[in-house]
Amino acid sequence: MYSDLQLTDDRPVYIQVKDYMKRLILKGGLQADQKLPSTRELSTLMRVSRSTVLLAYAELEEEGLIYAVKGKGNYVSAAVDTPESASGWTLDWNNHVSDYAIQAEQYDLMKHGSGAERGEISFTSIAPDEKLFDLHNVKRAFLDRMSLEGEVLLNYGYAQGYRPLMKYLRQYMENKGVDLSGKDILITNGFTEGFDLVLGALRKKSGRALCENPTHHTAIKNLKLHNFHLTGVEMESDGLHLGQLEQELMKHSYDLAYLVPSYHNPTGIVTSPAKRAEIIRLMNQYHVPMIEDGFNEELRYSGSHVSPLIASIGKGNGLVYLGSFSKVLFPGLRVGWVIADAALIDYLESMKRARSIHTSTLDQSLLYQYLSNGNFDKYLKRARAEYKRKYELVVRCLRQHLPMCRISGEGGLHLFVQFPAAFRTRDLLAACKLKGVTFTPGDTFYLEPGQGLNTMRLGFSRVNDDNIRKGIRIIGETARTMQ
Ligand SMILES: Cc1ncc(COP(=O)(O)O)c(C=O)c1O
Repeated sequence: MYSDLQLTDDRPVYIQVKDYMKRLILKGGLQADQKLPSTRELSTLMRVSRSTVLLAYAELEEEGLIYAVKGKGNYVSAAVDTPESASGWTLDWNNHVSDYAIQAEQYDLMKHGSGAERGEISFTSIAPDEKLFDLHNVKRAFLDRMSLEGEVLLNYGYAQGYRPLMKYLRQYMENKGVDLSGKDILITNGFTEGFDLVLGALRKKSGRALCENPTHHTAIKNLKLHNFHLTGVEMESDGLHLGQLEQELMKHSYDLAYLVPSYHNPTGIVTSPAKRAEIIRLMNQYHVPMIEDGFNEELRYSGSHVSPLIASIGKGNGLVYLGSFSKVLFPGLRVGWVIADAALIDYLESMKRARSIHTSTLDQSLLYQYLSNGNFDKYLKRARAEYKRKYELVVRCLRQHLPMCRISGEGGLHLFVQFPAAFRTRDLLAACKLKGVTFTPGDTFYLEPGQGLNTMRLGFSRVNDDNIRKGIRIIGETARTMQ
């Protein structure tokens, strides 16, 4: 006892001594009213200074764990409760979790997907490349904001969001052509929380939801977790198959449609202006509330400017727009936003308050200061140029090594690759993994088992040029041996 204290250099020594003694007392290693070693004895046993032990004992006394008797020494307090009596209480938590928890675990790609091993050339991620982050500007923004209103930022904030950021984002959306009259904004923890809140807010009448097929895996997961029955509409090279969409709309009524009209995940497709207009007309005609996911809008490499769908509805309110800075800036800050009819935002605000009170004010205010210091456009220009360069490299490599495939994707951080119909990308993945290369099999993004078996998504943002060339060469060589 005592001499087994292992000191680390990440915390003051007296705190480590205090914590050691506290653990001993709380675990019953020292009994009530038992005398503790003198400060001299303990300092020898623990090989620390006597003043360190004095400080530790003072802290323990302050916490009511020990008491001092003048002229005699220090003793363990009688009132210390040891939780010994309940130590035999065990539960099998598998029998106590909800269907929601069970399904969330089953759909968890991080646990059950084809993740990458260390050292592999991995095309699985579509996170931004952190090497592009302008950390010095982020640090400056943090210090600027902290010096302006540090204390306020550390206290509770507003559920709807940090006001300066809300104002900035309103302006940002107006600059995209959005008419905000009658609409309002809510700041969320990224797209994912916004989507979850909106799904939770909508009454289930038919219990049916429409989406593109394939689509964002996290969106499928959340729609299923909210018990929506999903109908997927096939993608053509310029967006949804409109004939199929209309047929589905005629067959059933829907509670919502979730669409990613720009740089869709996983196909990278940008819905054409003509299809955008027709989609809005149909949703309006069939009274289907629409959720637009604008996560990748800024990452355009070619073609003409695209506005979000919400910009084309004017004062209309049938569409909920979900924005996110996860691809165009820093996903770690977890800041996204919802623009929707003010009445819906009012409900969402209360739901947000009930669930998490608000998104971290520190994150929101840091982001706001970074944006208002004028960094966004400069960063975006640099990031877009670098991603465009990589995107073009990937396209060249794919054309060279996988000439039999159809490629889609006009922007964003990934490309979608379609092999001939009978080809199986899961088999290709297994063979490529043996050679140290990994990607996401496309079937992950489809609604039904057996769909998209000949497809794959290649995320390129975090793969360096040499590995892009090498990885796609290996994928191509391996695919040829399997045809
Ligand atoms: C389609 C789509 N929407 C939104 C996001 C961003 O989600 P979040 O803002 O929660 O990070 C992603 C991230 O990959 C995505 O693929």
